[in-house]
Amino acid sequence: MLRVAINGYGRIGRSVLRSIYENGFQDRLQVVAINELSDIETISYLTRYDTTHGRFPKPVSVKGNTLVIGEDEIQCFAETAPEAIDWAALEIDMVLECSGVFSAREQVQRFIDAGAPRVLLSQPAAADVDATIVFGFNHETVMGAEHTIVSAASCTTNCVIPVLDTLQALSGVEHGATQTIHSAMNDQPVIDAYHTNDLRLTRAALSSIIPVNTGLDRGIARLMPELTGKISSNAVRVPTLNVSLIDMVVRTSQEVTVEQVNTALQVAASAKYAGLLGYTQEAHASVDFNHDPRSVVIDGTQTQVVDGRLVKLLCWFDNEWGYANRMLDVACYWQQVLETSAMHS
Ligand SMILES: NC(=O)c1ccc[n+]([C@@H]2O[C@H](COP(=O)([O-])OP(=O)(O)OC[C@H]3O[C@@H](n4cnc5c(N)ncnc54)[C@H](OP(=O)(O)O)[C@@H]3O)[C@@H](O)[C@H]2O)c1
Repeated sequence: MLRVAINGYGRIGRSVLRSIYENGFQDRLQVVAINELSDIETISYLTRYDTTHGRFPKPVSVKGNTLVIGEDEIQCFAETAPEAIDWAALEIDMVLECSGVFSAREQVQRFIDAGAPRVLLSQPAAADVDATIVFGFNHETVMGAEHTIVSAASCTTNCVIPVLDTLQALSGVEHGATQTIHSAMNDQPVIDAYHTNDLRLTRAALSSIIPVNTGLDRGIARLMPELTGKISSNAVRVPTLNVSLIDMVVRTSQEVTVEQVNTALQVAASAKYAGLLGYTQEAHASVDFNHDPRSVVIDGTQTQVVDGRLVKLLCWFDNEWGYANRMLDVACYWQQVLETSAMHS
């Protein structure tokens, strides 16, 4: 049984906990601690009720500083600094770092120095982490004892890599561009506010389409180095609660047809990327993908090919639920690798 602590119990941290109970991770993984700056009553309340994902599937209550879920007890802390918690005393195998605050390796190392054996990050983080994993693409590169700080990449990287990998195998990818259309996030105010020194993130999330920074081009290059400098990325935030879209344009090396592209993606959906990449021909709106655990769903009705080699795709993803499930996939796989290598040594 993998024993974990969740650091940062916001959108991703709460999705991770909920998915453990909804998606059958309970027999492989146990959450023993949560560190979140809020108070325990609010933590309990936001566990029970979620505007995006609905009511929690199990009874949730509070006992002192402990969150009680069914029979399970989760010790809660409210510490800003990782060294304020004795992670070793919690006897955890891994911290799932979901605050987004710790990205440089030396910052993440603070958890390890304070007794946490390993840290899995909910963001791409700095390039010098031990590995950046997109589950389904390169998870087999994660190493048991040798790796201590691993990133589960970003929700957008998890969305595009299975698609680019499939296109690369079909026809070769020369270059391209991605446009992320992302739902609103907690780093945006509801009404204009002095929220941050990023001027665009001072603007009301509910009233505008807002261009924001993205590192998706760097994320792609880290996973598929052969595409370094070949794919550009832009992102906008839109006033929806959840579910996002990547509009991808790729110039392929060989000529393809819409049918060939869609067939390759359908095959990927039932083989290499089964359960991770989906394919649909239905008429969808973004809300249809709320609570969808897959990394990406291709809207085959929107696939276009211009002049043989310019391929355009629409890729849906639940940026919260899909990503939280991939974090859990990586965490469980990493633990399995560690246990297997311990058995053979
Ligand atoms: N939301 C998504 O769609 C998504 C998808 C994939 C990856 N991610 C990544 O996941 C990370 C978190 O995103 P999120 O959307 O879950 O953000 P969020 O809802 O703001 O959650 C972050 C939580 O961490 C808490 N926190 C801040 N500093 C902390 C500290 N030092 N120790 C412990 N907890 C701390 C925050 O508390 P306060 O609010 O009180 O500061 C907040 O509750 C980011 O790196 C983001 O890029 C997000």
